[in-house]
Amino acid sequence: MNSKLIPNLFDCKIAIIGQGYVGCPLTVNLAKELDNVNNSRSIIIGFDKSKKRLEELSKGIDTTNEINNIDFNKLKNLEFSNSLDKLLDCDIYIVAVPTPVDKCNKPDLNLLENATRLVAEQILKSKESNFKKIVIYESTVYPGATEEVCLPILLEITNLKFHEEISIAYSPERVNPGDKEHTLKDISKIVSASDPESLDLIYNLYSLIIEAEVYKANSIKVAEASKVVENVQRDLNIALVNELSMIFEKLDIDTSEVLDAANSKWNFTKYQPGLVGGHCIGVDPYYLTYKAELSGYHPEVILAGRRINDSMGDWIANTTIKKYIKSKPKLLSEINVLIMGFTYKANCPDIRNSKVYDIYKTLEEYGCNIDLYEPIANHLLIKEYYNIKVTKEYDFNSKYDIIIVAVAHNEFKSKDISYWISKTRKHSIIVDVKNILPINEKIWKI
Ligand SMILES: NC(=O)c1ccc[n+]([C@@H]2O[C@H](COP(=O)([O-])OP(=O)(O)OC[C@H]3O[C@@H](n4cnc5c(N)ncnc54)[C@H](O)[C@@H]3O)[C@@H](O)[C@H]2O)c1
Repeated sequence: MNSKLIPNLFDCKIAIIGQGYVGCPLTVNLAKELDNVNNSRSIIIGFDKSKKRLEELSKGIDTTNEINNIDFNKLKNLEFSNSLDKLLDCDIYIVAVPTPVDKCNKPDLNLLENATRLVAEQILKSKESNFKKIVIYESTVYPGATEEVCLPILLEITNLKFHEEISIAYSPERVNPGDKEHTLKDISKIVSASDPESLDLIYNLYSLIIEAEVYKANSIKVAEASKVVENVQRDLNIALVNELSMIFEKLDIDTSEVLDAANSKWNFTKYQPGLVGGHCIGVDPYYLTYKAELSGYHPEVILAGRRINDSMGDWIANTTIKKYIKSKPKLLSEINVLIMGFTYKANCPDIRNSKVYDIYKTLEEYGCNIDLYEPIANHLLIKEYYNIKVTKEYDFNSKYDIIIVAVAHNEFKSKDISYWISKTRKHSIIVDVKNILPINEKIWKI
């Protein structure tokens, strides 16, 4: 059988499955760029199973705060939908659904498999076409998952011939939510595919929206591995400085001063100690270690880094209490704590896998009175997922014994030191988790 034609980017139908932090900016930017191309007849479908998310997007509201300055709901070639019919007769499907880990930190590919089944079923129901179906995955996975898990589902349900009638591709996402400096178009993008023609197509597709380099990886496995490796490296670098912070705390040496001094050497790479939450850096290493173990290799360094980073919240809470009690013996139930920030990263409303919760939980177990202030995330979601009522206006009339600045939100960075000091008592401690405050005797930088 002769291979079917590769779809024409300017006269095709593209569906993006999953309209979250990754899928939505991709959808909107693709629609915007294709809209700018003269005579382009391409249609973009932003598909999600969440009705609420789609209703908001259709009104031009993006609660992830990733889309700015674009009236994306007015783009004529773009439609947001949860109707399966809209997925019929598409030429290109891009899957961007979550890939979390389960309670035992094992990859949970259920959402990815479900999305793949959904795509395959709609391909099966689609009209006969002269064009090859291209399914691109953006979700982070372990090396091998796209070909070993997703491809068999696609082939079994669609009955299409691999390479001749359907191809797969993988392009890991590197967006950095909350970061207005490094946006989708500025971040180089890796592309890979099951055959050279499809690779050229997705290279051209992403080149429409990416101004930085679009890098062709030699295989899908290489592209998958490169994504997890980026996050493994970051996780381990942070784990190293976190461990240094624990050591220097025992030695009564200021870690931030040590790192500044060490950084005066040309080949020292400076990382800050801190919490590693969210659904990427704290999760992706487990995808690689899972696959490594399946292959008979038991990773030690990667898992040691994970253990250290996962224990940071608890360590910060314990060390803070010890420090406070040393300077001012007091009943734990009389200690008033203010935690500033709850999201897993600065200036981003995402509260998934927030490690600030670990600090909160440990202090709560001690019986401390805790106020949590969070200016960006949705308070109802924090209540729903963590059962914590967020303080709307922190009560600065009753001064706090401990203030923990847990997230580097711009709002906190803009405050002067006198602001923080004025909210404390004589023996109070301010814990600067993100190293955003100046050096001061009241401040402990982790
Ligand atoms: N957020 C990031 O910073 C980031 C960066 C790089 C890579 N990634 C990876 O990208 C992938 C997506 O992450 P995200 O942060 O965009 O997730 P998200 O939770 O923000 O969005 C995922 C969306 O997919 C929808 N969805 C799930 N299953 C679906 C289905 N079967 N059909 C239709 N919609 C479905 C959900 O309703 C949700 O709106 C993950 O693999 C993640 O690891 C995320």
